[in-house]
Amino acid sequence: MAQIEKLSGIAFLAFPEMKNLLTAELAGRFDYGKIVESATVDGLSFTPFGTSSWYGDLLYCPDFKHEIFENVGNELPYFASTCMIEPFILRFESIGEAASALKEIQRNWAPYQYQLFRRASLIQEKLPYINLKTRKFPVNIPNSPMGLYTLLDDKTMLASALTNSPLPAGRIQFEEDHENPPSRAYLKIQESLSLFRAFFGVDFPKEGEKCFEAGACPGGWTWVLRQLGADVLAVDRAELAPSLMEDEHVHFMAHDAFTLKPEEVCSLLECEKIDWLLSDVICYPARLLQWIKLWLDADRAKNIICTIKMQGAIDWPLIAEFAKIPSSRIVHLNYNKHELTILIHNE
Ligand SMILES: C[S@@+](CC[C@H](N)C(=O)[O-])C[C@H]1O[C@@H](n2cnc3c(N)ncnc32)[C@H](O)[C@@H]1O
Repeated sequence: MAQIEKLSGIAFLAFPEMKNLLTAELAGRFDYGKIVESATVDGLSFTPFGTSSWYGDLLYCPDFKHEIFENVGNELPYFASTCMIEPFILRFESIGEAASALKEIQRNWAPYQYQLFRRASLIQEKLPYINLKTRKFPVNIPNSPMGLYTLLDDKTMLASALTNSPLPAGRIQFEEDHENPPSRAYLKIQESLSLFRAFFGVDFPKEGEKCFEAGACPGGWTWVLRQLGADVLAVDRAELAPSLMEDEHVHFMAHDAFTLKPEEVCSLLECEKIDWLLSDVICYPARLLQWIKLWLDADRAKNIICTIKMQGAIDWPLIAEFAKIPSSRIVHLNYNKHELTILIHNE
């Protein structure tokens, strides 16, 4: 008979290669753990409290109190793709027993494995089907609960039915197009738009919709917006890829995007309010926040998606200012690197 032992605390699954950013966030944003000097990662590395342990990219923190989230509006760490919110240990004798025990709790379970891959895939095969393949954009993000498990040894797993993402292991992975988009940044806007729709119920940009994109060169985001049929005012100091420069639905302007007034942009796009305001500009987060507030005060944009690029260590109090914007969500995308993304639904 499989046996379940409930555990205290939370387990955080770091995005790939983001372990140090996750631990820095736990320390800087949640005041959990402590930062010590180290020569290895940006001059900082993390020493978790004595009882925390890494299982691959999964950090189990038995002493992490759920109440800690209340201070930050219940938002779980951005650099974790998903979290085991009610972790437990499952002890079992066979693959069938493990799968039955999970199935009894809920339908959907995804693996996170850092070892014992073969055994985990045999367990997964006995569970109800979920799509673990790369996905072709556009995708629908489901809203059904998705559990997470990881094998600690061949008869023990760490698992949680309750997680904070409906995606398997909290990540969307798109089929990549290596030929058409002018830059790999197209994946970020595809992921942002998918999340935007899941969070706010707003459909993708479409024909007739007006987008203003700051820092658009070479054009990965513009390419996605055009694939979806929207009109784009693309502003950058450098031109976009030739195919986009020739597109009559792309109006390119060589300009500092931050000095264009919302009214000017709306008049260029012949509308009262633009449908999508987008920025992937590399700038200080404080500058970006000021610009977003300018647009919100002017009430000239319905939906906003901006990359918050970090310069060195993350200024968590400043990120908290972004998080205070009404109807906003801050995320770390699967396709973000040392940056976050803010999504704002301003209708
Ligand atoms: C990361 S790239 C954008 C990539 C683009 N999103 C894509 O999909 O291909 C950032 C761009 O911001 C532009 N940029 C930086 N500061 C700017 C400003 N003040 N106004 C307009 N563009 C700016 C840079 O020239 C650069 O092309």
